[in-house]
Amino acid sequence: MTEYDRIVDGIRYPWATKDEILEAMKTFEVREDDVWLITYRKSGNTWVQEIITVLFCGCDFTKRGEMDPKKRVSFVDLLKPGMTEFVHVTAAKKPSPRIMTTHLQSRHMPREIITKKPKIVYVARNPKDIAVSLYYFHKSNKLLKTFELWEEYFQAFYDGDLVGGSWFEMNLYWWNRRNDDNVLFLKYEDMKEDLASAIVKISEFLGWPVPEGKLEDVVKHCSFGQMKTNPILYWHTESAILDDSKSPFMRKGLVGDWKNYFTVRQNEAFDKLYEKKMKGSGLEFRYEL
Ligand code: A3P
Repeated sequence: MTEYDRIVDGIRYPWATKDEILEAMKTFEVREDDVWLITYRKSGNTWVQEIITVLFCGCDFTKRGEMDPKKRVSFVDLLKPGMTEFVHVTAAKKPSPRIMTTHLQSRHMPREIITKKPKIVYVARNPKDIAVSLYYFHKSNKLLKTFELWEEYFQAFYDGDLVGGSWFEMNLYWWNRRNDDNVLFLKYEDMKEDLASAIVKISEFLGWPVPEGKLEDVVKHCSFGQMKTNPILYWHTESAILDDSKSPFMRKGLVGDWKNYFTVRQNEAFDKLYEKKMKGSGLEFRYEL
């Protein structure tokens, strides 16, 4: 990995997830009226951030457009180059309700996430598509190692030796909490199949209604095509750490792209690993639509 990666309590963390952040998370004050969007990398975090933000704005797109895209959601585990203050420090000064997001594994989440019971939206995506999406993210992200060969990358993903730690660990943890009153467990594939229903679910869960007649507009606004081309939404081209020319952040947005990368042997090996790690959990994914 890059010289900046390191292992903390068994989890590989990138340069941007500083020790100070992990330390501060232990005592970070969670608010009961916070909304926490929790995802493993490449599960659709940006997508659901947008849905939540639009709902927060009462589905008023003018209001939404006026929000600073980099400031609307507090991404607590990342200190990006050029930031002068940790995100959790800024977030502590924000008015309620705050929209927080993180890729942290449960053992590094703020302890109060359990006791304060904020609203938690967890988004899961099938791990094979995540593997491919993350492979490309490693190419475009200047702070992550580029794997020239898919084979080399696949092995690291299979071994759970990538930044962010094990996909299995994170997804099992939140799957086991899926029936908690304050947790909404969503799947990327279901959102792809029926975005309108997913938006309604999130809206009802948060208690932030979609005004009558507005649902279709929200669906359109949050579709892959719109999110890729709408300059208000697509600010990644200006990011200091993402090189869109290597691989665009809004890459394909599909279910099933993994089939273009996994060999038959890799697929069989991964299925076996999944069976071993998730046996009895009941968590299943669709790998094509
Ligand atoms: P791909 O690389 O497979 O295209 P995250 O925001 O968690 O990092 O996830 C990024 C992935 O979500 C990328 O997947 C991206 O294209 C996809 N994505 C983002 N917005 C989307 C949308 N509106 N519809 C479908 N997929 C979307």
